[in-house]
Amino acid sequence: MNWPKHFTLTNQPTPITKLDRMSALYPDYEVYLKRDDLTGVELTGNKVRKLDFLVAEARLQGAERVITCGGIQSNHCRATAFYAQKIGLNTTLVLKGEKPRQATGNYLLNQLLGVDIKIISQEEYQQVDAIMADLAESYSEPCYVIPEGGSNYVGAWGYAKAFDEIMQQMPEVETIVVATGSGGTHAGLLLGKLLFKSDVTIISVNVCDDAAFFKNKIVRILNEVREHYALDFSVSEDDVHIIDGYVGQGYAKVGDKEIEAIKRVARIEGFVLDPVYGIKAWLGFEDALQNNTLPGQRVLFIHTGGIFGLFPFADLFGNVDRS
Ligand SMILES: Cc1ncc(COP(=O)(O)O)c(C=O)c1O
Repeated sequence: MNWPKHFTLTNQPTPITKLDRMSALYPDYEVYLKRDDLTGVELTGNKVRKLDFLVAEARLQGAERVITCGGIQSNHCRATAFYAQKIGLNTTLVLKGEKPRQATGNYLLNQLLGVDIKIISQEEYQQVDAIMADLAESYSEPCYVIPEGGSNYVGAWGYAKAFDEIMQQMPEVETIVVATGSGGTHAGLLLGKLLFKSDVTIISVNVCDDAAFFKNKIVRILNEVREHYALDFSVSEDDVHIIDGYVGQGYAKVGDKEIEAIKRVARIEGFVLDPVYGIKAWLGFEDALQNNTLPGQRVLFIHTGGIFGLFPFADLFGNVDRS
């Protein structure tokens, strides 16, 4: 495959492991986990695969600074700041919300890196693309703007390449399930499926908005990829499979159900999912295992990282007794 120019700063391929106890709980399936949380420490998670391509593109365009946006605890923003640091680019983060009283999680990591941070309100965030464009004009150095979540026609290549990686590691996989927050990971996996003309089913569980929103967004990203790189494939909303119904109390809102599930998964299989993305996707995944609605038998859940997003919710875990 002729991949667009990219860096590979992280640990790839990430391991795939069989979840024996989960497989025993759901005997119709063999359940596997792809550890994309193990791409790195500062560079943990799905965002860094997109950044392999986005930061390379920034470099190609001669940028000296990257500007991106997300929530106060955005994994994408933390990953961008560390990626840019390693490549020698400056970073500006436009963060939505309120300055935390105590720096923790991803916000703490951004602060210790000393990147430029601009905090804006939820309302102002509606205009975040315009705000980032204005900021880019305000710097004397050339800037490269990365949209929310790195989810565009450049970032999508990261998960097309991950799809190829999965096929080499586990050609027998039948269904891949992942979280969707801004659509880029799902779009990238689907791009890989289309490029390699694969039969694997790609499904995501949305952690915000709804299935209609993401079907539209993911097709839009893929159409942009096709146009920008003059590729030959067609895709429609029917090709985008979303499990809806696991947003819970809202994006980045965490209830007892998620907290209990994080503890349960950790105690059954010994890995930790984050409260904003991973656990909500997992709840959708487990219900589908339970209801036998996933195609095929060999199913792979992608752990997309997000561990630093756990710590701002420490209070919700109480004293984490075993009850
Ligand atoms: C840990 C984690 N998992 C999943 C996602 C969802 O990925 P995407 O934004 O590509 O849909 C994100 C970011 O949004 C994330 O930070």
